[in-house]
Amino acid sequence: NERKCHKIAAIGADGIGPEVISAGIAVLRALSEALGSFDLDFTEYDWSSDTYKKTGNYIPDGGLDELRKHDAIFFGAVGAPDVPDHISLWGLRLAICQTFQQYANVRPTRILLGTQSPLRNCGPRDLDWIIVRENSEGEYAGQGGRSHRGQPWETATEVAIFTRHGIERLMRFGFEIARQRPRKLLTVVTKSNAQRNGLVLWDEVAAEVAKDFPDVKVDKMLVDAMTARMVLAPKSLDTIVATNLHADILSDLAAALAGSIGIAPTSNLDPTRQNPSMFEPIHGSAFDITGKGVANPVATFWTAAEMLAWLGEETAAAELMICVESVCEAGIVTADLGGTSTTVQVTEAVISEIKKRH
Ligand code: NAI
Ligand code: MG
Repeated sequence: NERKCHKIAAIGADGIGPEVISAGIAVLRALSEALGSFDLDFTEYDWSSDTYKKTGNYIPDGGLDELRKHDAIFFGAVGAPDVPDHISLWGLRLAICQTFQQYANVRPTRILLGTQSPLRNCGPRDLDWIIVRENSEGEYAGQGGRSHRGQPWETATEVAIFTRHGIERLMRFGFEIARQRPRKLLTVVTKSNAQRNGLVLWDEVAAEVAKDFPDVKVDKMLVDAMTARMVLAPKSLDTIVATNLHADILSDLAAALAGSIGIAPTSNLDPTRQNPSMFEPIHGSAFDITGKGVANPVATFWTAAEMLAWLGEETAAAELMICVESVCEAGIVTADLGGTSTTVQVTEAVISEIKKRH
């Protein structure tokens, strides 16, 4: 009965990122001590927009090889007011996602106990979704260019790339997730009426893969109609698969419908497990509240639970979510959820809940 030790690389990065990641590490340490069933070994990396401003790079030479030695990456947020967002995003977050072939981005959404949806009559059990986002190609493939800079005829292209390989691996992963859930329902989001090449291939591959999952019900939605359905009939959805751009937008809507962007987690997964996967809250670096001690750490705690589940510690993950939800239910929440507690108070409450239960 050997205790497993999971090696975690922690990168807080910018803004509230370091604040929520240190809260997450404290809670994870308390959980592993209380349960005694596994160990966690954290290595912290201070890569951020400050590193970029000093050295011209977000990730130092050999940095990605360092990360590769870990079982998972626990990430805060990147983005600074004085660095263009496309530089920070591609310099750190996307550099990691692409190098490690984290082609599936998974975003669970539900209404935690003690929190409220802005939707009328939508209680905790009425909204329980998993959005699976294509995370390696599509509209964010990075293909395109700009010419005739500054001229009235300046031209820019942003080319969406859809490959059979990329779509198929993502669809299979989406169907697998749907199959593991009680409802076995997968909604494939598309826009193949207007985007008649890439998204027609998307639909065709979805239909082919569906044949291997006869036990999963498939349902196809145009992305525009999907936004309305998420708002008007949240109960009718379960697992959702969508392109990089579509799912990026839908998952922010999902987070808002669940009460706050401050609670939503995401996982960037390499389902082949050849590379470490990366776990992060979906929110950004939130300059407006940085350093004030009021960032909601719940998104990071839920992220930590998703990371534990991926590492095979499903029981610990479930325990952590029970503790987080009972703290929310007790009204110990930050301002974004209508409360008055600080990041540290919420963190300490979760830690004492963990200790109380074990
Ligand atoms: P944001 O998520 O940082 O902030 C949006 C709003 O939500 C702000 O009012 C903020 O105060 C609030 N908020 C976010 N997280 C919160 C939390 N944990 N607790 C309480 N309130 C919270 O998005 P924004 O303002 O569009 O982006 C700011 C920077 O973050 C930009 O540089 C952007 O590129 C970057 N960003 C990075 C991401 C990443 O690293 N994965 C994701 C999204 C944005
Ligand atoms: Mg986004």
